[in-house]
Amino acid sequence: MDKPIVYVTRTLPEEQLSPLKEAADIEMWEKEDEPCPRDVLLEKAKTADGLLTMLSDRIDEELLKEALHLKVVANLAVGYDNIDVEAANKHRVICCNTPDVLTESTADLTFALLMAAARRIIEASDWIKQGRWTGWGPYFLAGADIHHKTIGIVGMGSIGRAVARRAKGFSMNVLYHNRRQNSEAEEELGAVWVSFDELLEQSDFVVCLTPLTKETKHMFNRSAFKKMKHTAFFINVSRGQVVDEGDLYDALVEKEIAGAGLDVFAEEPISKKHPLANLPQVTALPHIGSASKETREAMMRLCAENIALVLGEKQPKTEI
Ligand code: GLV
Ligand code: GLV
Repeated sequence: MDKPIVYVTRTLPEEQLSPLKEAADIEMWEKEDEPCPRDVLLEKAKTADGLLTMLSDRIDEELLKEALHLKVVANLAVGYDNIDVEAANKHRVICCNTPDVLTESTADLTFALLMAAARRIIEASDWIKQGRWTGWGPYFLAGADIHHKTIGIVGMGSIGRAVARRAKGFSMNVLYHNRRQNSEAEEELGAVWVSFDELLEQSDFVVCLTPLTKETKHMFNRSAFKKMKHTAFFINVSRGQVVDEGDLYDALVEKEIAGAGLDVFAEEPISKKHPLANLPQVTALPHIGSASKETREAMMRLCAENIALVLGEKQPKTEI
């Protein structure tokens, strides 16, 4: 019997896909550092039994209705707003993501971005690289303190808890907002649940880790930014569309908030002409939350294992 076909939408190292080697014939999008075009993905999906996808690939009704052999989609990300899970359920396609393996790395990046924004690290480094450092000054590149301040985490899942643990090491006061209270975060870390408005009003650093859903889209809008302190920073490591970017821009320019650290944008990639990228009080990163070599490889292996399990008619490790 022919082996099942798995299509991988990015060039990944074969050794990271070894769990799939026996189970399937693997085909990959061959151009390194270029995403698989939509028409290629649609065509490949028609014959594939499994897909290993990136967060930039849209898995929707248009794709699923023609994917008659498809049994499993494994997304190389914890977020899965690129997948219409309801449509996949209807077509009996199992969807998997990569939680847990990326928690600590994403928390590291979140805290690094918070620190970079507060202490103006990238701006300071550029000062030297652009040959502009002429001497010491009392307010030269003076930023904001982090230690003993209040961090407010919106979306207290496992990444939120890992960020809260880091915040505790900096003697920060930890608030959080979540639909459900997180007793682990409260007992282990002394995090305090507050309403969304209270979090905005009291936090020095508002950190967004909530998944993008219909309910969270544009939850950070002008009215939210107006409730924040003028000295506060907004840090986003979830999805760009959780924020109304025009409203964030206005809040920054009108100094309603002090600055922002952004790892994600509504439409990615952004160009250097993007209005937010041109504000000195914005630290902008190109969606690198989980981007350590070790973690990305763990994510690849988890995707491969999940696909192999489903193709072997077993329960995947991390089904959505
Ligand atoms: C990255 O953004 C992810 O969801 O893993
Ligand atoms: C964090 O937001 C998570 O779901 O782990």
